[in-house]
Amino acid sequence: MRTIVKLTALVMLLVVTGCSGALPVSVINMVSATQPAPHGDAVRGETIFKHGINDAPACVGCHALVKGGFSLGPVMKGISERAGTRVEGMSAEAYIRQSILEPKAFIVSGFRPIMYPDYAKHLSEQDILDLIAYLSTL
Ligand code: HEC
Repeated sequence: MRTIVKLTALVMLLVVTGCSGALPVSVINMVSATQPAPHGDAVRGETIFKHGINDAPACVGCHALVKGGFSLGPVMKGISERAGTRVEGMSAEAYIRQSILEPKAFIVSGFRPIMYPDYAKHLSEQDILDLIAYLSTL
């Protein structure tokens, strides 16, 4: 409904301005505000976490989801809460992104720097957003 109102307002503005020359900034802002913000799909992120994608190894090979089993890397339960506290001034989302793309930038105390280093070459921006969305549910 709001989109229809905005589009109607846009059409009216175009009529008033005679469709000539550049669009006023307010109109451009109005149009861009109707674009959906990029967001991750947690369900797809879970599939990538558990099965890998595009020849990249599955995260679950090294990260157990809950305590108890064998886990080479930190157990992922609670990552949504601790991610924002790992590096001063870094948001949870930024920390998870960095952990995936540059695993050696911050080594979790008690672990060795053995995380697969080449996810940046195999994962698309959408894959990363989906993984972040999934980890944010844990
Ligand atoms: C070869 C094993 C391995 C694979 C595969 C792996 N990791 Fe890791 N990961 C680790 C290890 C070991 C650490 C801890 C050392 C460090 O900080 O690099 C870690 C750290 C992390 C952290 C930081 C955890 C914390 O508590 O701060 C995140 C987040 C993470 N990995 C996400 C992922 C995701 C998402 C994938 C899949 C795309 C993945 N990892 C694949 C081994 C792995």
